Amino acid sequence: MRILLTGGAGFIGSLIAQAYRNRGDHVVIVDSLVTGTATQVPVGATFIEQDIRDPDLVRTVIDHGPFDLVSHHAALKDVRKALLDPRADADANILGMINVLRAAAEGGAGRLVFASSAAVYGDAAVFPTPEAVECIPISPYGISKMTGELYGRYFALNRDLPVIALRYGTVYGTFTPAASEAGVITIFTRRLLSGEVPVIYGDGLQTRDFVNVEDIVRANILVGAAPMQSPWAVYNVSTGTETSVRDLARTLISLAGATCTPRYEAAKAGEIRRNVQDASRLREAVGWAPEIQLDQGLAAVVEATRHASRG
Ligand SMILES: NC(=O)c1ccc[n+]([C@@H]2O[C@H](COP(=O)([O-])OP(=O)(O)OC[C@H]3O[C@@H](n4cnc5c(N)ncnc54)[C@H](O)[C@@H]3O)[C@@H](O)[C@H]2O)c1
Repeated sequence: MRILLTGGAGFIGSLIAQAYRNRGDHVVIVDSLVTGTATQVPVGATFIEQDIRDPDLVRTVIDHGPFDLVSHHAALKDVRKALLDPRADADANILGMINVLRAAAEGGAGRLVFASSAAVYGDAAVFPTPEAVECIPISPYGISKMTGELYGRYFALNRDLPVIALRYGTVYGTFTPAASEAGVITIFTRRLLSGEVPVIYGDGLQTRDFVNVEDIVRANILVGAAPMQSPWAVYNVSTGTETSVRDLARTLISLAGATCTPRYEAAKAGEIRRNVQDASRLREAVGWAPEIQLDQGLAAVVEATRHASRG
């Protein structure tokens, strides 16, 4: 396959790029390096340092194409920064999305996969939340992802570009960036291994659907090639297991061999209270199910962090 990956120098995009490279696919990465790093780009992938809002993006797609798949992972994903500067979030995540869709459509891409988020649900009323519920995002980041989906649907139905939106839960891996939604795992682990107490903001009963990045990569590979029943599709990519920050801290304390109790501080604004998503639609469509249990994934995080801190 020929794949154009935006955001391929970031946490999730670089691992998707690596998986495609491992299969021998041709991968072109577009990334501005605003949060990503060039060292994350896998060996053998072509790297183009470019902003997704660049009007010349369509030239990049035409010159390096044709592409079977455009995988759109570039975004500003810091929910808290977006609260402070919603305009910067909208600029990168909405105008950037429109430019990527336009370039993909004009460049004749086979399909586009969009990294959306559980943030589109806001404070949902149904748990585990299925895709069909009404989405009322409660943060600028959630609004920009929802708007991205609506533009994706528009291009799919009107511009001959099949689009699949993947609503990820909270994605973690061995080295989740601290600024990530699952950065709490990295921060807690580092603190515990250096003898410090984890700090929980709010009562710790806020919940997340933590999904391992390896499962996210597999979902991308599956939807990137599976036959599509309609030009527009949206899927949750999640475990269906709800974990509170309190329980997360408890598990990490035990895995780190510590005996402390977390410290509690004032809650941060803009956070959804509960998130757990129903991924049965994705299972029915492409046979995807998460393979990595949270305990198993967290044990790997603690082990890798311990190893890295030793040197
Ligand atoms: N990490 C999560 O838990 C999570 C959950 C749901 C959705 N997502 C979405 O998945 C995607 C990847 O997230 P991630 O965690 O890998 O984030 P990341 O910050 O590690 O990667 C994003 C990449 O996009 C690049 N980028 C940002 N703005 C750009 C622009 N204007 N032009 C070109 N490149 C730009 C960055 O340099 C970075 O390399 C994002 O769209 C994010 O919103 C992530």
